[in-house]
Amino acid sequence: MYENLVSEAFEAMKSAYAPYSNYHVGACVLCRDGRTFRGVNIENASYGATNCAERSAVFGAYSYGYRKADIAALAIVSDGARIGTPCGICRQVLSELLESDTPIILSNGKETMETTMAELLPMSFGMEDLA
Ligand code: THU
Repeated sequence: MYENLVSEAFEAMKSAYAPYSNYHVGACVLCRDGRTFRGVNIENASYGATNCAERSAVFGAYSYGYRKADIAALAIVSDGARIGTPCGICRQVLSELLESDTPIILSNGKETMETTMAELLPMSFGMEDLA
């Protein structure tokens, strides 16, 4: 399942801007209406200003007015030796911007797995803690 979404994430990965790490990441959000939003990692000489692929993709969807209830799935792919899982900053961001059970498909082209934010960031801190 989600083969087309994973393929689009790999297509996006070709545009990754990663001159420092040379680690290329692509992501693609699938919205319930069929629209997709691509993202790539975009690095910076300051390192800290780097933006990860999955945040780029989800921010793209949100920028067009889509919200977590509108998002059906997210694919994140990389060219690493093992499957790349979202970094800690992305986990925090995705825990707010995706439903906890939204399918997240991870692949490095050799192996593919499916997970959710509930699995990736249990006991997360969120909006409800600030109420
Ligand atoms: N990267 C992502 O795009 N997503 C992640 O969740 C892990 C890390 C990027 C950031 C940086 O450009 C490169 O991978 C190495 O950390």
